[in-house]
Amino acid sequence: MSVGYSPLVMEHFANPRNVGEIDNADGVGNVGNPVCGDIMRMTIKVEDGVIADVKFKTFGCGAAIATSSIATEMIKGKTIEEALRLTNKAVADALGGLPPVKMHCSVLAEEAVQSAIDDYLRKTTGKGLDLKKHEEHVHEHSHHEE
Ligand code: FES
Repeated sequence: MSVGYSPLVMEHFANPRNVGEIDNADGVGNVGNPVCGDIMRMTIKVEDGVIADVKFKTFGCGAAIATSSIATEMIKGKTIEEALRLTNKAVADALGGLPPVKMHCSVLAEEAVQSAIDDYLRKTTGKGLDLKKHEEHVHEHSHHEE
């Protein structure tokens, strides 16, 4: 891992929380970054409008693992509405910041949360979210590490 990572990023990378997959999840989100090829899968259990449990699997860089790890901690126990307000910036801030070329990794975490909630809403209400894609973030760093 290169320099520039906060101790918290390193800590979540080395010891990620909520890794795995929930059986019979209420919502499943699969997202990927076409530029770096990293992918993230998030599964949620929802009880009374609250995220009762959440697990993730990330095949990606250290920052992607650390951001998805802390994102699960940040939405667990929160309502759907609160979880939807989780931004990639809040995720990065909670980790003590990310190097600029790694901000797109936190976007993946935000998108994974939204995608899992979108899936849950589609299954339960028949109507999903109006998901915006963060294309600009993807292209912004399109030459990193290549
Ligand atoms: S998510 Fe692809 S490099 Fe971090």
